[in-house]
Amino acid sequence: MCGIVGYIGNKNAYPILIKGLQRLEYRGYDSAGVALLNGQVNVYKKKGKVSDLEDYITGQDIRGTIGIGHTRWATHGEPSDVNAHPHTSQNGTFTIIHNGIIENYSNLKNSLTEQGYSFVSETDTEVLANLIEYIYRTQETNAEIAVRIALSKVVGAYGLVIICNEEKDKIIAARKSSPLVIGLGDDEYFLASDATPIVEYTDRVIYLNNDDVAIIKKDELILKTIKNDILEPNVQKLDLGLSEIEKNGFDHFMLKEIFEQPRSIRDTFRGRLNAEKNEIRLGGLYHVYDQLVNAKRIIILACGTSWHAGLVGEYLFEDLARIQVEVDYASEFRYRNPVISEEDIVIAISQSGETADTLAAIQLAKEAGATVLGICNVVGSSISRETHAGVYTHAGPEIGVASTKAFTAQVTVLTMMAMMIAREKQLISVEKFTGLIKELEDIPEKIGKILENNDQFSDIAKIYKDATNALYLGRGVSYPVALEGALKLKEISYIHAEGYPAAEMKHGPIALIDENMPVVVIAIKDSSYDKIVSNIQEVKARNGIVIAIVTEGDDTIEKMVDHVIAIPETDPSLVSLLSTIPLQLIAYYIAVMRGCNVDQPRNLAKSVTVE
Ligand code: G6P
Repeated sequence: MCGIVGYIGNKNAYPILIKGLQRLEYRGYDSAGVALLNGQVNVYKKKGKVSDLEDYITGQDIRGTIGIGHTRWATHGEPSDVNAHPHTSQNGTFTIIHNGIIENYSNLKNSLTEQGYSFVSETDTEVLANLIEYIYRTQETNAEIAVRIALSKVVGAYGLVIICNEEKDKIIAARKSSPLVIGLGDDEYFLASDATPIVEYTDRVIYLNNDDVAIIKKDELILKTIKNDILEPNVQKLDLGLSEIEKNGFDHFMLKEIFEQPRSIRDTFRGRLNAEKNEIRLGGLYHVYDQLVNAKRIIILACGTSWHAGLVGEYLFEDLARIQVEVDYASEFRYRNPVISEEDIVIAISQSGETADTLAAIQLAKEAGATVLGICNVVGSSISRETHAGVYTHAGPEIGVASTKAFTAQVTVLTMMAMMIAREKQLISVEKFTGLIKELEDIPEKIGKILENNDQFSDIAKIYKDATNALYLGRGVSYPVALEGALKLKEISYIHAEGYPAAEMKHGPIALIDENMPVVVIAIKDSSYDKIVSNIQEVKARNGIVIAIVTEGDDTIEKMVDHVIAIPETDPSLVSLLSTIPLQLIAYYIAVMRGCNVDQPRNLAKSVTVE
């Protein structure tokens, strides 16, 4: 949440900052702002999108080869011009941008008020700007030391970039729990919350670690800890192409990412499946392999769509690998008193690898002695670094706020893990194992077939775009798919939607069914097929409208329902990879037809770095 960018070098900073903010807008779009250092610091900020900021800046002084920029997802203080970042300290010495939360800001604010400071915004960030300035003035020290002392008094999370009006040759950056990447150019440095604003300028990056402070001049970078211990920067090569973060002709990132799924799933299993050798190789798990295979219990922790992938994982691990699984929201897990043992395997699933609750839950599990594995999409992200071992999904950057290709890539990894354990424990025969590998290899092509029939999804969307409620039902592994379908619809189209286990419908939701309520039923041919057919009949008996996702060739359900969407046949363990696709597309087209901002739905952000 909140995107931050910075530049120091010989070029004009403004275009680099604006482009960077556009790339990071998925992290928050309540307001945007930039500060440019050109003899003096000029700050421009505006409620709304980056485009509103650009309109506002037109005709103003945008010179400066040092600058910082911010796009905000509001935590403290409503979205407004005054609460927008950057924030400047009372006497104008420090201007800062911040991603995260200063938890003890209220105490700090009271102390600063007693020292004569007053505040123009309601933000915790302005408190930090004034704290740094107060230390700088009262302790007669330099900017770097003032920043480090201030940060030692702060409780909370921050990705922070600071410029000082009295030390005009540098940018100071710091990180704790909120991500920050530095790109290394020739006599120039780029800073950003993730690598997407940096990729077109350089492929050499440094990911800051917690408690790192960077003092950056255009031709020098010094990395140290808050406590002043000098650190050796770990320069990494960025594995990201520019085309991966552009729309490439699609109307929205979400649509592009839905259509990328044949490719992203293939990239996720590429080099890891070997049908000839009867092998699945997940290199990131080698040193925990025995623990994983012999685990008595797996705890899966995640948020949002990643949590739904975790629920699919529960079916897979229990069914194929016969390991007991608990799936928990990271936010609930961390505030219970969960029973964790040293034998437990904890799997944290996160597209961004930065979700604050998931990170905190990982910490808790590690402290209790569990072995923690990560399934992350973003390479080098905090979760991928905090976990003992893990598997990257290789879905490529996901920019649409509603997660699509990350979900199917996560399910692909969970499937490979469950199959690998099942084979190692000889719970499935070689024939079944190789059959599953072949089926998994065929999934991209089968998704391609679903995507070819794209028109049927927009036709259905046209009919139901004005619905006010929708119900999604599934049984077994299709239940998390129902949850995911409902989440997609509600988050991008603002239609209230609920996902339910089909059998539970009788315990409440059935009361909602009438002739206006679309009920999406995932009714593929598996062991609960007959039961789901009964559930469909129960809906139809109450005049409900049924849109059924069925297995190709099913002519029983076709006669009973209003719309059928046929998906190719596959092994029941893999079917969620196919049945999810129509639900993504129906939600997408409904949202487009309702005029919603599909890629940046209201109030949401892609990377939730505050709890
Ligand atoms: C936000 C995003 C969702 C995502 C969830 C968890 O709510 O909008 O798309 O599923 O965070 O994020 P993670 O990066 O941990 O998967």
